[in-house]
Amino acid sequence: MSERKGAAAMRFLQLAAKRQSDRGYLERPVEREKLERCLEAARLAPSASNAQPWHFVVVDDPEVRSRLERETHGPFGAFNRFTRRVPVFAALVVEPGKAVTRLGGWLQGRNYGLIDAGIAAEHFCLQAAEQGLGTCMLGIFNERAVRRLLRVPRGRRVALLIAVGYPEAKQTRPKRRKSLEQIRSYNRYGKRP
Ligand SMILES: Cc1cc2nc3c(=O)[nH]c(=O)nc-3n(C[C@H](O)[C@H](O)[C@H](O)COP(=O)(O)O)c2cc1C
Repeated sequence: MSERKGAAAMRFLQLAAKRQSDRGYLERPVEREKLERCLEAARLAPSASNAQPWHFVVVDDPEVRSRLERETHGPFGAFNRFTRRVPVFAALVVEPGKAVTRLGGWLQGRNYGLIDAGIAAEHFCLQAAEQGLGTCMLGIFNERAVRRLLRVPRGRRVALLIAVGYPEAKQTRPKRRKSLEQIRSYNRYGKRP
């Protein structure tokens, strides 16, 4: 690897390490231009047959935000208590996409829409981290209520909510991850290099 490429790879790894799930936010509002950059990064994400089956509903209106936040606490209000202080949410709606992709997904037994949404969500979060914003993807929320609140048309799922804001934390936590040895092999499942 050339020195320049090495530096770029390093910068990307640093960004990947910097992104973390932030659960404490400052009251500081998030500039729309920063959100637009996150959306642009998501727009550039790859997707099965380039279907781009996503729509982002950005919620920064205080009234809507507060009603949305109430739908993120799960059964018995036990989860995601931190969202009370999240200034902005982005709801990631999975669009029906192309018929050919859906057919391919059905034949393959894969939900490409959800896979695509996950990739777009990570692009969004990495761009947020690059701009000094914190994010947390939320998979626990009352999807029915969120769909109703945001007027998501019938037949479309809300794959994720992404909390966005300026993080309270100044430091990046060390990542708790499996080791490379545990997660990879070459040429055959489980075969060590
Ligand atoms: C699909 C998905 C759903 C998640 N749902 C929640 C959630 O509802 N609440 C929450 O606090 N964190 C949620 N997370 C964040 C994970 O807990 C977090 O990514 C993981 O613990 C790794 O930590 P890190 O993001 O700080 O590196 C979710 C992450 C993903 C990818």
